[in-house]
Amino acid sequence: MAGSRGEFSSRFGFVMAASGSAVGLGNIWGFPTQAASNGGAAFLLVYLLLAFLLAYPALMAELILGRHAHSNSVAALRKVSGHRITGSIGALTGITGLIVAGLILSFYAIVAGWMIAFCLSALATLSGNAELANWLTSFGLWRNVLFLIVFLALTIGIVSAGVHDGIERWSRRLMPALLITLVILVLYVFTLNGAMQGLKVYLMPDFSRVLSPQLILDALGAAFFSLSLGVGTMLIYGSYVSDDENLPLLGGIVTLVDVSIAVLAGFLVLPAMYVALHNGVEIFNASGALISEDTLIFTVLPELFASMGLPGVLVSLVFFFLMSIAALTSSISMLEAPVAYVTEEHRIGRRLTAWLIGGVIACISCTILLNFDTLFGFIIALTTRYSQPLLGFMFCIYAGWVWRRDSLLQELRKGYPGVQEGLFWKIWPWYVKVVCPLIILAIFAQSLLG
Ligand code: PFF
Repeated sequence: MAGSRGEFSSRFGFVMAASGSAVGLGNIWGFPTQAASNGGAAFLLVYLLLAFLLAYPALMAELILGRHAHSNSVAALRKVSGHRITGSIGALTGITGLIVAGLILSFYAIVAGWMIAFCLSALATLSGNAELANWLTSFGLWRNVLFLIVFLALTIGIVSAGVHDGIERWSRRLMPALLITLVILVLYVFTLNGAMQGLKVYLMPDFSRVLSPQLILDALGAAFFSLSLGVGTMLIYGSYVSDDENLPLLGGIVTLVDVSIAVLAGFLVLPAMYVALHNGVEIFNASGALISEDTLIFTVLPELFASMGLPGVLVSLVFFFLMSIAALTSSISMLEAPVAYVTEEHRIGRRLTAWLIGGVIACISCTILLNFDTLFGFIIALTTRYSQPLLGFMFCIYAGWVWRRDSLLQELRKGYPGVQEGLFWKIWPWYVKVVCPLIILAIFAQSLLG
């Protein structure tokens, strides 16, 4: 069955695709800016702990559920339920997750479109077309609509080609390109004046902030968003993994790659901010807080690049190209989750489904753009702050409480016969049953309380 619905052809292919989903704007934009405004290394420390101790177990819940069912998230949650009621709640959870994945894609595509526009603007500057370069970086409806459609069309094109020829092939190409580009940029920024000050802020923890509840909850939210949890994307990627693979190991590698890229992006963005400061760009307000945290990348960094003359244009080109790639490998996983569901449950062709769902998402994105001030922030909060933690909670409940323990153990044994003697089996079931749901509820409660 798995063969007819597609499967990753190799361990490397899966790791590249799943880390491609995980590594995105959240790592290169979200994590460094949050670290910068939350005491640098203090945030980094808490983020690292939470990513491995809580987000990794939750990721494993999705991967194992997916591999067990070898089907979409709705069917997978139904399959592990022994009862009609838990089956229906599971199906509802799965469908809600798919809708949330689509909504995340609708705002993600807008931001990713800006990245492509900024990248092309650098090209326009290099070719001497200042007017076009200016249009590409100005916030206008037509620019936004055009580039969101370009980005969605790229995403749809890759997803239409299927698991092996689309997702795996492109993730294998794009992920190494992303890593190389990031390393080159980090090395370059280190050579600039002011970078060392940023490095110090990033690496020297202010221990008084490590225990701040706000910081802990922010770091946990960042870790969950970063690992693409709660909406069934990791579950669907898990469903394409062969039964011979050792899932705890694969999940561990994906977590390590995701966290490493976020940490590496911190080595770029924090020093770059202080280089900007050194060049006279204002990055802090009078009370010492970071200005324009959300739009840092579109305000501070372009100003920094502009202050560097011609090399700045090249760096800008490479940086926004990097952001576009990172966004693309994440967006394909967001679209794959609903596409897999519709093709499997309703027997409609993959290409048609990808274009239909992509078309609906483009309409939602345009609606957001037309009502930008009210909808943009609202959809981000609704999906990432409220829905993702709550859905992640449900996946943990299904893996920990609803799914029969012997069947779960049998699933894990498939690619890892000695699992029962290992550390993973001693710790993980309790984590996913008790610790993860409690902590996710804590984040959710905190989000509700504002
Ligand atoms: N993990 C992605 C990032 O860090 O940018 C965001 C993401 C991807 C969220 C896929 C949810 C998802 F389903």
